[in-house]
Amino acid sequence: MKGLIEPHGGKLVNCLVNEARAKELAAKAPSMPRVDLTPKQSCDLELIANGGYSPLDGFMGEADFKSVCKDMKLASGHVWSIPILLSVDKANAPAKGTEVALYAPNGVLQGVMKVNEVFAHDKATECTSVFRTDDKEHPGVAQVMAEGDTCLGGPVEALMLCVDPDGDEAFLDRRLTPAETRKAFEEKGWKTIVAFQTRNPIHRAHEYVIKCAQEITDGLLIHPLVGETKKGDIRADVRMKAIDALTEKYFNPAATLVTVLPAAMRYAGPREAIHHALMRKNYGCSHFIVGRDHAGVGSYYGTYDAQHIFNEIDLDNLGIIPLMFEHSGWSKTYGGMVSFKSFPKMEGDIVFLSGTKVREMLEAGERPPMEFSRPEVADVLIGAAKDNKLFV
Ligand code: ADX
Repeated sequence: MKGLIEPHGGKLVNCLVNEARAKELAAKAPSMPRVDLTPKQSCDLELIANGGYSPLDGFMGEADFKSVCKDMKLASGHVWSIPILLSVDKANAPAKGTEVALYAPNGVLQGVMKVNEVFAHDKATECTSVFRTDDKEHPGVAQVMAEGDTCLGGPVEALMLCVDPDGDEAFLDRRLTPAETRKAFEEKGWKTIVAFQTRNPIHRAHEYVIKCAQEITDGLLIHPLVGETKKGDIRADVRMKAIDALTEKYFNPAATLVTVLPAAMRYAGPREAIHHALMRKNYGCSHFIVGRDHAGVGSYYGTYDAQHIFNEIDLDNLGIIPLMFEHSGWSKTYGGMVSFKSFPKMEGDIVFLSGTKVREMLEAGERPPMEFSRPEVADVLIGAAKDNKLFV
């Protein structure tokens, strides 16, 4: 490989305006129709602005929406699996050609958009194609169903990159943009970089697949998602503390970078695995880890559906290489970490704890076994549980 992987579509998008333009837009914004972004839309705007969603330079129009739902491609032909929509209530929908002011959930003016298109939000198509279900119990479906009926498409100008939804600025210094991670990789001399997506603390099984991947690449990007997650997931600040405790002790800093991804979870399983991979391509990574039930929720997706979906897309256009890992865990017989692929008799032998069981243990101040979670990680989680600050 000569240099870092090219961004999706060939060019890293940057929608952040300079100071003079930001002032001009801020002065004009009060006279524009106002759109109050949801946390998910605010995350999407940040990723459009910083190039994480390259080649998108705005919220999608109808041709992209339809093509993404049906064929997992943008109208231009580039692989894309998740619609990036700005939906509003029909009654508040501005006319085509209008400039609208986009306000983050904390009331800050995050950007401005030129409305090139106004179209109906086809929620039924979005849900059945993206989530493979229209069950309102599915958190991604529930979110789409609660969104507006009308979509606005068009290019954006961002006044700032990060608008922390809670006013909690804990991750500001760890929120590297794709241009910044690319610069960091170049400075380190890394050409092949594997990215690890997670919305959890890093348990032993996560650690195992990460270490396997790290052995075959120059560098590792641990890239926890810190945008909106569902109720009951572990809070991002707690996860970051646990990840720091783990990486400080068990990861080589010369081959590891930990920064955050400001994306919202969709819980779209297979489709989201592609989406997660594409973002990491834009951040400069050559490889992407896809393990068991990636981005899944409940029992909506099969254990390896998020791996099989990569057979349905143009891998050359995707560019980033998915590294697939089978269900892994600690084997009592083997006395170490193994996977269903590498070890002959996993059933009954693997130390497996359900999410509910782990939650109960942590809430009771009890450590999950060392074979499931490193003590350093368990300590952080138990501490947060004691303070009643473990879950979103
Ligand atoms: S996710 O929503 O971000 O996918 P999670 O943080 O649990 O959830 O998973 C992060 C990555 O680790 C995903 O690629 C997932 O498939 C993988 N993974 C999680 N648990 C295991 C496991 N026991 N064995 C193999 N891979 C796993």
